[in-house]
Amino acid sequence: MTSPRPKFNIAPSILSADFARLGDEVKNVLAAGADWIHFDVMDNHYVPNLTFGPMICQALKPHAKTPAGVAVPIDVHLMVSPVDALAASFAEAGADYISFHPDASAHVHRSIQAIKSQGVKAGLVFNPAESLDVLAWTIDEIDLILIMSVNPGFGGQSFIDSALRKVELARQWIARSGKDIRLEVDGGIKPDNIRQVADAGADTFVAGSAIFGKPDYKAVVDQMRLALA
Ligand code: DX5
Ligand code: ZN
Repeated sequence: MTSPRPKFNIAPSILSADFARLGDEVKNVLAAGADWIHFDVMDNHYVPNLTFGPMICQALKPHAKTPAGVAVPIDVHLMVSPVDALAASFAEAGADYISFHPDASAHVHRSIQAIKSQGVKAGLVFNPAESLDVLAWTIDEIDLILIMSVNPGFGGQSFIDSALRKVELARQWIARSGKDIRLEVDGGIKPDNIRQVADAGADTFVAGSAIFGKPDYKAVVDQMRLALA
């Protein structure tokens, strides 16, 4: 028997973690009750910042477990162009979800197929000024929609309110599809706005600076759960 999926997932972004102690940071944030690990990959080309690649993902994979030893998903957010070669490397490195920006791939449908052919769940990511139109041709193929509530590239930015309308629209797309698709929001999420994001229709919440910027990760995760309850 598999355990029921949580209604809401909190996905800490290790972009804001202490890079000198990444394995411990992953363990500690999962001990604090987080559900997923969000892994922000930046290439200094699609976005003006540079982070980490598949080798770091592979090194962290054994640490992506609850204290009881249950594996948690590694949620890779590719802010890279082109997409396919790196996506394949992340699949080999143990990613559970791989999401990419449609405007970063010349062949969006092919990129989705390539990710799924490696047994990994595929997601599409939408920047603040990007429409959801591509879903008309891809929603039957994907497992996750990620709505950016900041412009990609940096942690610690302020939530862009128009993302809420886009989350509502994405929820309608998912309802019409009849598929089990996760709806994730990324950027500027904190205990005091997470409820609003959930009310718009999101079920998975990325939070970097809100969690790793505080000394007590469990206190922040608990505040978020309370706001969602
Ligand atoms: C931005 C990244 C986010 C970022 C969120 O490009 O995709 O995942 O880490 O950081 P906060 O929660 O600090 O806005
Ligand atoms: Zn992200």
